[in-house]
Amino acid sequence: MNKVALTLRVNGRAHEILVEPRKLLSDALREDCRLTGTHVGCEHGVCGACTVLVDGSPARACLAFAVQMAGREITTIEAIATDGRLSPLQQALHEEHGLQCGFCTPGIVLTFEAYLKEHPDPSEKEIREVLSGNLCRCTGYHNIVAAIRKAAAQMQEGGAHVAP
Ligand code: FES
Ligand code: FES
Repeated sequence: MNKVALTLRVNGRAHEILVEPRKLLSDALREDCRLTGTHVGCEHGVCGACTVLVDGSPARACLAFAVQMAGREITTIEAIATDGRLSPLQQALHEEHGLQCGFCTPGIVLTFEAYLKEHPDPSEKEIREVLSGNLCRCTGYHNIVAAIRKAAAQMQEGGAHVAP
């Protein structure tokens, strides 16, 4: 299949890449942009491991073609820590032991960086509802929920640091 030239804007940087029109965004990020923090699990929109932000909103990178992203701004997990400093959510996941293998973690971080920006004081029920879109095979979710609640509280106290 013929490849097409594409400018993919990721984390504030333009990547000039050459891709087949059928290439998934998740694969283009990993293979062409060398940003392997975006994980690929189910490849059909169920597990949430591939979640990135597209123009600030969470999206499944395995459900989009890279060529659909022309003119869009993509944010991946690589852009969430700044100047070597973890975001409050990343720090809370670390402190609350909210991950084991870490495979699901980038997707969870991106989902909730965006969610907490719009919902700064979510209930546990709301957190669990949103979290149902990100499958974790290791943790049992309890510590992830605790970490998200901790991050929300800290961000409300003034340590806000969320993705664009
Ligand atoms: S890899 Fe995209 S939702 Fe599972
Ligand atoms: S920490 Fe292993 S899948 Fe979630």
